[in-house]
Amino acid sequence: MKIQSLGYILVETKDLSAWDHYGQEVCGFMKHPDFSNEEKLCLKIDHEPFRFIVQNGPEEKFILAGLELGDASALNDAKKIFDELNINYQQLSADDLFTRQITDGISFNDPAGNLIELYHGRLNDERKFSSPKGISGFVTKDLGFGHVVYAALNIEETHDFYINVLGFGDSDIMNLQMSPNPEDPKMKLYFMHCDNKRHHTVAIMQSPTPPSGLVHTMVEVKTIDEVGEALDRAINNDIHISSSLGRHMNDKMVSFYMQTPGGFDLEFGYDGDQPDWSKHQTTSSPAPSYWGHVFTPPPAE
Ligand SMILES: [Fe+2]
Repeated sequence: MKIQSLGYILVETKDLSAWDHYGQEVCGFMKHPDFSNEEKLCLKIDHEPFRFIVQNGPEEKFILAGLELGDASALNDAKKIFDELNINYQQLSADDLFTRQITDGISFNDPAGNLIELYHGRLNDERKFSSPKGISGFVTKDLGFGHVVYAALNIEETHDFYINVLGFGDSDIMNLQMSPNPEDPKMKLYFMHCDNKRHHTVAIMQSPTPPSGLVHTMVEVKTIDEVGEALDRAINNDIHISSSLGRHMNDKMVSFYMQTPGGFDLEFGYDGDQPDWSKHQTTSSPAPSYWGHVFTPPPAE
């Protein structure tokens, strides 16, 4: 299976206006005027119709990620593989296809329970991206819109599924000592790429799934100033800064993390590495970052 990129994520909220403010005023995303209404907010960051779909619902929660396939035959091949392996999947409804602005797709759960969609044929959008905060553009196109990081307690089974069923490749594997006692077990993280040059499109970490449903997602801008300006806007809007600025060791991203209204984090970065996979050897980074990335939990409510 050749997955091309991360295409979109879908989030549920009790407070669409909080996401509206966060998306436009903090992140500098564009609210799509044709698809957003009282039921949902569609946030556009590039040439595609939108990358974030935020829908009214009973919880503050990440719901799913959509992964793009090249065409209808790639989707048919994926269904055949799932059939052969007895993996359950559902056909997306006409309503779902319209909401996502895609031609066709299916949904399924990975072994950790994360809901994923595979689709092809994102529809064209006539509207040009224009950031309400003057961001010159996000780094997307063939790279997809960014990455998602899931938690998985059954990490080996989940990793095996991404590698051997979905066709991802290992970019970097970390084993982190999270406690001061070296006798304590280490936490494993797998960073995986699909058929584009983004260092990782999906990562999984060995921990229980957080109540928000996702560890973090990531968007990438083109300049360090646009990262710094987003950090200023987050602070000025009383958004919890989950991690200070830092540079990651594996994908070289300079970024900070902030809490979204959905409770999961958004990594806002620039300068992500784009390895040549034909020459890449899977690395094993000894630490998450060269410098920075000091994490601070949100204040207790
Ligand atoms: Fe990340």
